[in-house]
Amino acid sequence: MSSHAHPGANDEPETPEVISRRQWMANATITISGVIGLTLAIPIVGSLLPDVGAGGATWTPLDENGWKQLQNATDTPVHIDINLKSKDAYLPEQSSPQSAWGIKVKDPQKFMRDRSDLFGPGGKDTLPYPIVNMGFVLFSPICPHLGCYYQWQGSQNRFFCPCHGSMYDPNGALTHGPAVRGLDPLPLREQSGVAQCEWIRYAPTIPNRLVVSYTA
Ligand code: FES
Repeated sequence: MSSHAHPGANDEPETPEVISRRQWMANATITISGVIGLTLAIPIVGSLLPDVGAGGATWTPLDENGWKQLQNATDTPVHIDINLKSKDAYLPEQSSPQSAWGIKVKDPQKFMRDRSDLFGPGGKDTLPYPIVNMGFVLFSPICPHLGCYYQWQGSQNRFFCPCHGSMYDPNGALTHGPAVRGLDPLPLREQSGVAQCEWIRYAPTIPNRLVVSYTA
């Protein structure tokens, strides 16, 4: 009797067919995982898209002072104080002090050229609300890099973020990183003679604008 044991099934050399079947199974698993991931991702991303006026943000009237501040935005941006209203599904409406930066758009064509990130073909707004309204644009005071509050530096004609040095021109266009997008416009409208705005916090660090929350 031979001293050699019979090779077990596991020890058999694999034929090219076995190897290619295994590879096919691995690829199929990756594909199925991808489909499952995408199926989960679509509703999540969908829920992050701006949903203005449909149960998302709450319109906050600019008080007389805030409206006056905005109207003073002639040549330089103005810092506007807002008593921001927000409503969580389970809590009563709340107010918190916030701010925004307002600019007056004297030349809409130039603004659209400077802020090509905000307009699609034919000058269509890429956000679900008018970006320029009543001749003004309101910017979130939150730096789109990592969320610090930026400031206006008149001597450099730039918005400047003290945290990591991002800079934006007077129309909010990015001129210096590390941020990867320009300033985020907020919804602004006139209702019964009163200017109103909404608060939206967009996700930091990414080029696209995905809503993170409607509260400050
Ligand atoms: S948070 Fe503004 S540059 Fe980083």
